[in-house]
Amino acid sequence: MTGSGREFMERTKYKHLGESDQDRGVPQPPLQRPVPEDAVLIELPQLEHIKVKPVDLRTAMESRRTLRTYGQKALKLEELAFLLWCTQGVQRVTDRPVTLRPVPSAGARHALETYLLANNVEGLEPGLYRYVALGHKLLALRLGKHFGRAVVEAAGGQEFLGKSAATFIWCADVYRMTWRYGDRGYRYIHLDAGHVCQNLYLSAAAVECGVCAVAAFDDDQLNELLGLDGDSMFAVYLAAVGKTAAGRG
Ligand SMILES: Cc1cc2nc3c(=O)[nH]c(=O)nc-3n(C[C@H](O)[C@H](O)[C@H](O)COP(=O)(O)O)c2cc1C
Repeated sequence: MTGSGREFMERTKYKHLGESDQDRGVPQPPLQRPVPEDAVLIELPQLEHIKVKPVDLRTAMESRRTLRTYGQKALKLEELAFLLWCTQGVQRVTDRPVTLRPVPSAGARHALETYLLANNVEGLEPGLYRYVALGHKLLALRLGKHFGRAVVEAAGGQEFLGKSAATFIWCADVYRMTWRYGDRGYRYIHLDAGHVCQNLYLSAAAVECGVCAVAAFDDDQLNELLGLDGDSMFAVYLAAVGKTAAGRG
């Protein structure tokens, strides 16, 4: 952001909302949610070892379409790792410190955490996971095939979620954003989520997958399923991913 752009953002913040915790000198919260010390983390293939189909940006733009019917073929772990990296992977931690990722974020706050429903991913037991972006790993939360049904029900019976290879569930760690922007941060959380989902739509083309964004869901039901209090952390947006006809193999 240019100097004047940053200044303007600061002024609009003051005009509408007064001081934030950052302005008051409160130290910033951690860059990601803590990982329990005894957690068993699943290593994901590193980006430099992942081979995907080269897709020209123009082709990806011209062919982007929402997909709600998926092939039976499983998503490979490296394909999932690629999609996680394209949507929330950490490229660099700066001196500030903030994380820089393939998606932009207001003030580089990156307040989203990616939860994942895995239904049909090679090498992953079905269930709920969290992507640990710093470290590029997966944390198993609750395992079992029935979580697919629970997500479908939380989303008002949208059956394709249960038939996806995986469904991304982006959740906001609210204070990571409001620490800097106060209540205006709620707006930025939702704008950030849009960027993330668009990266999923575009990167899915490189692994012969299609995506369906989903914002129709019961907040309380989904938050409870993920163990979120719905206040300091809540589910913002979902996206189902699965193989296209071309990727059915
Ligand atoms: C914010 C947002 C929320 C959406 N929520 C749902 C949803 O809950 N269920 C669904 O089937 N599609 C949902 N969609 C997908 C849209 O229906 C789809 O993008 C639209 O019909 C245009 O089709 P296209 O993406 O193929 O261009 C959502 C899309 C966006 C951007």
